[in-house]
Amino acid sequence: MIVFAIETSCDETSISIVQDEKIDKRILSLVTRTQVNEHQAYGGVVPELAARAHLSNIEPVINQAIRQAEIELDAIDAIAVTAGPGLIGGVLVGITLAKALHISLNKPLYCINHLEGHALTARLSHDVPYPYLLLLTSGGHCMFVEVLGFRQYTLLGQTLDDAAGECFDKIAKLLDFDFPGGPALEKKAALGNPKRFAFPRPLEHTPLPNFSFSGLKTAVKQTIEKSILNQQTVCDIAASFQYSVGEIFKERLQKALKCSHHKVERLVMAGGVAANQYLRSQLQSVCADNAIEAIFPPMNLCIDNAAMIGWTAIEAIQNSVLPSTDEFQPKPRWPLEQIQL
Ligand code: KG4
Ligand code: ZN
Repeated sequence: MIVFAIETSCDETSISIVQDEKIDKRILSLVTRTQVNEHQAYGGVVPELAARAHLSNIEPVINQAIRQAEIELDAIDAIAVTAGPGLIGGVLVGITLAKALHISLNKPLYCINHLEGHALTARLSHDVPYPYLLLLTSGGHCMFVEVLGFRQYTLLGQTLDDAAGECFDKIAKLLDFDFPGGPALEKKAALGNPKRFAFPRPLEHTPLPNFSFSGLKTAVKQTIEKSILNQQTVCDIAASFQYSVGEIFKERLQKALKCSHHKVERLVMAGGVAANQYLRSQLQSVCADNAIEAIFPPMNLCIDNAAMIGWTAIEAIQNSVLPSTDEFQPKPRWPLEQIQL
C-alpha cells in the first residue's frame, strides 16, 4: 500500500510517499521545504505569509517527492493530508490539494490529525509497540499522552498556557537570535552557564504532569531587560532557561509515570522540541533510572513532516478506518483525545 501525504499546517511545506513495508523501505520520499526566509524578519510565523508560501512551494515540492520516489502518481493507493489542528490558511492549501487528487485520481482520502502524526512517528521510525508514554512538545503543544493503542489516547497533562517551543521561540526573539529560535537558542545555551540565573519552574508543587511556561517566559524576559547583554550573559541566559525547561521536563515525567494507567516501559519524545539534544539527554537520564526505554525519532521526523501523516493513514487503513469524504472541513482546533476508532 502506497500513500501520498501532505503536511502544510504550520511553516513547513512537506510531501511524502510512504508504504507499509519494513522500516528501511517505508519512506519512498520525503521532501520538506521550510519557510525560514519568509518569516525571518518577523521573528515568528506570520499565518498569511505561511499560506502564500505553501501555495508557491507546493508544486516544486510535489514534483521533487514524486521524482525521488521513482513512482507514477497512479501507483498511489490513498491520499493523506493534515486537516488540523494548525494555521487555517496552510491547512486549506493542503486539504484543497488532497481533495483535488482524491477526485482526479479516484483514490481514497484520509484527513489526519497533525498531533496524531507526531504521536505515531516513533512507530514509523522505530516500530515501537503499543503501549507507550508520549511527550509531545512542539511550537503549539506540550503534553503527556498515554498511547495505549491506535486511536486510544489518554491525555495525562498538558500546558495551561504557552507551549515549550513557543517559549523557546519568544525568548530567542528577545535575545535577537536567528529565526527559528529553538535551534539557535540550543546552540547558544551550549556555550553558557546553566546555573547563573535561577528561573522558576511553574506548577512544580502540583501532582499532575501539566505545564505552564508563561511565568518562566516572563521571568527570563525581566532578566533580559535588566541585564547588560554581552555575549557571555546572552549565552548564560539561554543556558539557564534551557536548564529550567530540562528540570521541568524531568520532574513532570516523574509525575506522568505516577499518573499513567499502564506500567510504562517506553517513553517517546516527539514534536519539534524533541530535536533538542540537551532535553533529550535529561529525559533519557530519568528513563535510565526507571528502566524505561527512551525513543527519539530522527530529526527530520521530529519537525513537521508529511511522512508521519502518511504513516498515520497507513495505520488507519490497517485498522479498517473508513476514508474521509470530500465534505471534510479543516479543523483549526482538534484535540488528540477526541479522535477515536
Ligand atoms: O513540531 P514543530 O516542527 O511544529 C509545530 O507543530 O509546532 O515544532 C516547531 C517548534 C518551534 O517552536 C521550534 O523552535 C522548536 O520546535 N524547536 C526546538 C528545537 N528545534 C525546533 N526547540 C528547542 N530546541 C531545538 N533544537
Ligand atoms: Zn508539529
